[in-house]
Amino acid sequence: MSEQMVLRVLGSSAGGGFPQWNCNCANCAGVRAGEPGLTARTQSSVAWSRNGQDWLLFNASPDILTQLQRNPELQPARQLRDTGIAAVCLMDAQIDHVTGLLMLRERGQPLELWATPEVLGDIATGFPLLGMLGHYCGVNTHPLALDGSRLRWAFLPDAHARPLALSSKPPPYSPHRQAPRPGDNIGITLVNEATGHRVFYAPGLGHINGDVWQAMEAASVVLVDGTFWTGDEMIRAGLSQKHALDMGHLPMSGPGGMLEYLAQLPRSTRKVLIHINNTNPMLREGSPERKALDAAGVELALDGMDIRF
Ligand code: MLT
Ligand code: MN
Ligand code: ZN
Repeated sequence: MSEQMVLRVLGSSAGGGFPQWNCNCANCAGVRAGEPGLTARTQSSVAWSRNGQDWLLFNASPDILTQLQRNPELQPARQLRDTGIAAVCLMDAQIDHVTGLLMLRERGQPLELWATPEVLGDIATGFPLLGMLGHYCGVNTHPLALDGSRLRWAFLPDAHARPLALSSKPPPYSPHRQAPRPGDNIGITLVNEATGHRVFYAPGLGHINGDVWQAMEAASVVLVDGTFWTGDEMIRAGLSQKHALDMGHLPMSGPGGMLEYLAQLPRSTRKVLIHINNTNPMLREGSPERKALDAAGVELALDGMDIRF
């Protein structure tokens, strides 16, 4: 077995996808029209494996069935009914990260689900997926503690993960939207003990505090929130009244933006942006924003991309 592990990007877009079904912004209209330099993307999800057969799915996107069709490695076909999805771990309870759980209801075994008590609470009440799935495959919930302890899965030998609380926002449907709690959003460090390499994954990140920065500095790869280029992107486009930070997303540009942080990481750290909103101008190859990323050595995640570590 290879020492390296793989993190497969199943979906690199934020909620809504790219193009978004009802959006005619320059990016969405452009990708629909087949303009060069624009690539369609499905909604936010990644999967982690050592053996290429058993996978830990991070987030279950509304596009999961398409993602499974496009990534046959997640269907090892070892028996009549089978899946490579050995377990699911949720980063938050946002609709773009949890709705796909319903699509996994035909499983023969209960779904093994890791999430914080806050996220499990939101998907038991505001969006009652857990109760609903109880009428289908059922769910074995594994509450995630954010006390620094290591998580291990038998199908990921010589590997562990360490989740940490992020400052961001619970979903609009959550009763806690305006009063976020630690545990509404997490980031996670994935450690390959065989190579010593680690990936820090945080698709929804509103603020980089000391703990988050430490995790980013310790990582060989950071795979982080690339939702918006500017804080007022949705407002200026006339699409929403909300600032990026109101939605729990740190914008890329400007003072204190994500790119300033990434520039302080060592050159050897691989820097990849994920959960990219369809309005983000960096989606267009050749745009000034994309050129700025290229110059800074920052990559955009793309559906189907493998991060080996
Ligand atoms: C978010 O992270 O803010 C989402 O992409 C919003 C959504 O899923 O609608
Ligand atoms: Mn999202
Ligand atoms: Zn759009």
